[in-house]
Amino acid sequence: MRSLILAAAIAGCASRPADTTRYISIDADAIETARTVAARHGARIEQVDGDANIAVIAIDAADLEPLSELMHQEHHRCGGFMLHESLEDAHAALLQPAFKDPIKYTLDRAALVQAVLPELDRTRILGTIRELSAMKNRYYRSDQGAAASLWLRDRWRSFSTRSDVTVELFDQGYPQQSVILTIPGSTRPDEIVVIGGHLDSIAPGGTSSTAPGADDDASGIATLTEVARVLLAKDYRPARTIKFMAYAAEEVGLRGSQAIVRAYKKRNINVVGALQLDMTNYKGSDKDIWLMKDFTDAAQNTFLTRLIDTYVGATWGLDVCGYACSDHAAWHRAGVPASMPFESASRDRNQKIHTPSDTLETSDRNAAHAVKFARLGAAYAIELAKGELASSTSIAQTPPASTCWWTLFGFAGLGLAGLGLTRWFARID
Ligand code: BES
Ligand code: ZN
Repeated sequence: MRSLILAAAIAGCASRPADTTRYISIDADAIETARTVAARHGARIEQVDGDANIAVIAIDAADLEPLSELMHQEHHRCGGFMLHESLEDAHAALLQPAFKDPIKYTLDRAALVQAVLPELDRTRILGTIRELSAMKNRYYRSDQGAAASLWLRDRWRSFSTRSDVTVELFDQGYPQQSVILTIPGSTRPDEIVVIGGHLDSIAPGGTSSTAPGADDDASGIATLTEVARVLLAKDYRPARTIKFMAYAAEEVGLRGSQAIVRAYKKRNINVVGALQLDMTNYKGSDKDIWLMKDFTDAAQNTFLTRLIDTYVGATWGLDVCGYACSDHAAWHRAGVPASMPFESASRDRNQKIHTPSDTLETSDRNAAHAVKFARLGAAYAIELAKGELASSTSIAQTPPASTCWWTLFGFAGLGLAGLGLTRWFARID
């Protein structure tokens, strides 16, 4: 079938020898530009492969240079197409997510980001860290580690009644499972934005350890949980699909994330960016957010620095982990642009991690540090996944615990004031 279409495609090139036929892949929105170039010598161009975003077309070799020029003029793209050895190569490249156009990082959703940021609530981040770190451990092979997955799944499920928003467990044969919340994209659902952290904790003693892991990495899970809550409360409709991931078994060699990366590669799932939130609530250095340069993508890291400057209002620095220190490395190795914004410079790292003393008390009891990462996570989600808020949005949810107390105090205060006034009036009577 494909060769029939191809024959038709190059029929217009009959006056030229067939061996000058070349196969290129080009953004679907630029096919007309290629047609214009071919039409100059009476040739016709048809798409021979591709999908809604990328087209593979047969084109005469002599048309490549003029096409490059016209692409520059009309689309401001340098080249803007990829030349393949053969049709088979073009087809194979299409299946490679890495082949896709490098992502264009733009900041053009300021109103949306600004509508979302004020809703991020540090008391909720604190609450989630408290609940996670109150579990004896979240070791990937322990019963508590397994329970943590179910607990988080239920928490995430409570954020939306939308039928298109899903929360699943990703099983890889350990008691603990990874948890994935998906907000499907409206116009580019096949392009996935991942925001992740690891759910497991570790300390000496394995399944019977006391491993609160408040900073490593209840803080990251609490941070991305708050981002997910607010985006869903605002009824955000991303253009690209967003997946929040709580990976199992990071502490034992990035096993949860690697299993997901393998499965996604097998299914040719196109992940366009991955943000790893692993340790967000211990301010160990002068600057707030540290972007790890190793096992990450330089262009996406630059995008993050712009997001921090524009939306987060925090200071940032660059550093290295020095090794594949967290789940971002699994994505990076698979060719996905990955980033790891970290809570301190490496040399100032939290010394309590992987011990029973990794508690809220030894990190930030106010979660003031973590909330900067929540702001960054929300800005990243929105500016990478684009899209809009649904037309009528409201923040309909249960108030945070702190609000409940204030309400209670408020009523109690009113009551007492009322009582006092009554007595006062009684006295002057
Ligand atoms: N959160 C840490 C990584 C980390 C710690 C980064 C301190 C920067 C400073 C992560 O959970 C972890 O412990 N990673 C392991 C390596 C992993 C491949 C098992 C580590 O650092 O030993
Ligand atoms: Zn760790």
